[in-house]
Amino acid sequence: MVEVRAALAAEVRELARERDAVIFAHNYQRAEVQQVADIVGDSLELARRASEADAAVIVLAGVRFMAETAAILATGKTVLLPHTGAGCPMADMITAAHLSDWKAEFPGVPVVMYVNSSAEVKALTDVCCTSANAVEVVRSLGSPRVLFAPDRNLGAWVAAQLPEIEVIAWNGYCPVHDEVTLERVRDAQALHPDAVVIAHPECRPEVSAAADAVLSTSQMMRYAAEAEASEFIVVTEAGLLHGLQAAAPEKRFYHLAPAMICADMKLTRLEHVRDALADLSGEVVVPAAVADAARASLERMTAIG
Ligand code: 13P
Ligand code: SF4
Repeated sequence: MVEVRAALAAEVRELARERDAVIFAHNYQRAEVQQVADIVGDSLELARRASEADAAVIVLAGVRFMAETAAILATGKTVLLPHTGAGCPMADMITAAHLSDWKAEFPGVPVVMYVNSSAEVKALTDVCCTSANAVEVVRSLGSPRVLFAPDRNLGAWVAAQLPEIEVIAWNGYCPVHDEVTLERVRDAQALHPDAVVIAHPECRPEVSAAADAVLSTSQMMRYAAEAEASEFIVVTEAGLLHGLQAAAPEKRFYHLAPAMICADMKLTRLEHVRDALADLSGEVVVPAAVADAARASLERMTAIG
């Protein structure tokens, strides 16, 4: 079995070479997919690297909004989503029609959109953000009020960091992170009293408030590697444990809950990456008018931080 997976991984790398392709994987992807990737990162890193990519094809092993972002930023390149059913339930919680109606209620108030959103929604947005730069992006606008979507929890985290700004948040959420209760975190702390709690800002406000650090997925890896602490309670999706252990092999990581698994992130297997490369299937194409408007909101973000 191990040999079969190794042969498949070698086939993927050979196909990538033949196709002049780079493979990007999000930090939540299966370990076997992360292992064949050229770049593994958080949403911000994947977006930045897509705009700089020097290859004809980008295979984006992640979910649809990440592949759309790559297609918008990497003009002229072919972007493939290996499992075309991989979406993000939070991104589906706001549509372009919802956003148009919401904006009409708050004329003149800038819209900050988490990248976990569709290209059509980004096209109606002033500026995008990710979990890594949401606070900086909102601060940079210098506006006393902002509309923030779709994640109410990331919106609440930003509001807590910037009390002088009124953050009006859409009522979306990540089903994986929003399930976590404060009680669960307290139980884990009782079991591991010396461990540092690192949480993703998609967690509920009381969970983020109880964490020692609230960070994007890649920021968590850097933090764990650099911190003096040797034990961590990890409050995010299970896939990050692979990267954390690789970033700090001598440290111990306790995943808060085995149920913290994003089913969409786990859809992609090596076979899907191989098939996408073999027949260039799963191409993500964003219509030009939508892409142009969405690119403006993404580029405003990358210019900020
Ligand atoms: P990061 O950008 O922090 O990797 O988060 C993406 C995501 O979908 C978290 O659920
Ligand atoms: Fe979307 Fe949550 Fe999955 Fe991230 S973990 S892709 S926010 S459903």
